[in-house]
Amino acid sequence: MAKMSFSLILLSLTTILSLISTLHAQSAPAPAPSGPINITGILEKAGQYTTFIRLLNQTQAGNQINNQLNNSNEGMTVFAPTDNAFLNLPAGTLNKLSTQQQVQLVQYHVLPKYYTVQNLQTVSNPVRTQATGQDGGLFGLNFTGQGNQVNVSTGIVDVPIYNAIRKDFPLAVYQVDKVLLPVEFTQAKAPAASPAALNGTKSDSSDNNKTPDAPAVANGSGKMSVGFGMVSCIWLMLCYLV
Ligand SMILES: *[C@@H]1O[C@H](CO)[C@@H](O)[C@H](O)[C@H]1NC(C)=O
Ligand SMILES: *[C@@H]1O[C@H](CO)[C@@H](O)[C@H](O)[C@H]1NC(C)=O
Ligand SMILES: *[C@@H]1O[C@H](CO)[C@@H](O)[C@H](O)[C@H]1NC(C)=O
Ligand SMILES: *[C@@H]1O[C@H](CO)[C@@H](O)[C@H](O)[C@H]1NC(C)=O
Ligand SMILES: *[C@@H]1O[C@H](CO)[C@@H](O)[C@H](O)[C@H]1NC(C)=O
Ligand SMILES: *[C@@H]1O[C@H](CO)[C@@H](O)[C@H](O)[C@H]1NC(C)=O
Ligand SMILES: *[C@@H]1O[C@H](CO)[C@@H](O)[C@H](O)[C@H]1NC(C)=O
Repeated sequence: MAKMSFSLILLSLTTILSLISTLHAQSAPAPAPSGPINITGILEKAGQYTTFIRLLNQTQAGNQINNQLNNSNEGMTVFAPTDNAFLNLPAGTLNKLSTQQQVQLVQYHVLPKYYTVQNLQTVSNPVRTQATGQDGGLFGLNFTGQGNQVNVSTGIVDVPIYNAIRKDFPLAVYQVDKVLLPVEFTQAKAPAASPAALNGTKSDSSDNNKTPDAPAVANGSGKMSVGFGMVSCIWLMLCYLV
């Protein structure tokens, strides 16, 4: 009799203990942002990205990524062209770009959302980039999947994504062996005040559907407070339970 109640107590103790440990296990991913993420630091460590690092630095896009990662709960995805990719560009390609176009080029390699390779296979094209909505250009990227292989295409460039330099939320960084040149650079040379947009055609309305998203992400303060609210709520619940 005593033996039975002892084993009952033991049983409920183990149940409680395993419950607590699952709660701890579940709570572990929530406070993920331990230290600030540094995109240039990650690329430096990976090697062979000196040109892209220089561009991230020159255009301030690197800082923007670090700040946005810290202030949004969407995460981000970066396609990092190797030094070889830049070397394989037609001579003078980078130098011919205006300062604004250099910024656009770098931002075109950044998605304001975290995607796994599996996500990219099923995403609906075209996907908004950090450059989307500026200058009347769409600056979207298309993703096509076949098996476990995903290609990213711009209309000019079509290149496989095969190497994840970093793949944990909130930042995915994928190697690309070609620079993702936006089709917008070839369509409109000078300040691209897209005539279609001025005339209020169909492409105009689709642009308008895109633009409201962009500032919301760039701003992010609204999202941040929601995120914090949720996180502290979860923490309160956990503390109460444990
Ligand atoms: C990020 O890393 C680079 C290179 O390691 C460094 O120069 C830069 O100061 C770092 N930035 C931050 C915000 O820590
Ligand atoms: C980043 O740019 C600043 C000037 O804007 C320069 O002083 C610094 O050396 C650059 N750092 C890297 C790692 O290129
Ligand atoms: C990240 O965000 C927190 C709170 O929003 C802020 O205190 C911290 O200074 C930020 N860190 C960086 C590197 O921006
Ligand atoms: C990207 O995909 C969209 C939707 O399927 C399509 O309309 C567009 O032509 C594609 N663009 C390129 C450059 O492949
Ligand atoms: C991916 O791109 C390569 C060339 O860069 C091409 O040979 C291949 O067919 C493409 N795959 C898909 C699924 O589009
Ligand atoms: C825009 O409208 C003007 C006048 O209404 C017309 O001349 C021009 O061809 C139009 N452009 C486009 C791209 O539709
Ligand atoms: C960001 O959004 C908040 C409201 O969510 C607004 O009060 C603030 O002015 C916005 N900041 C910028 C820079 O747009």
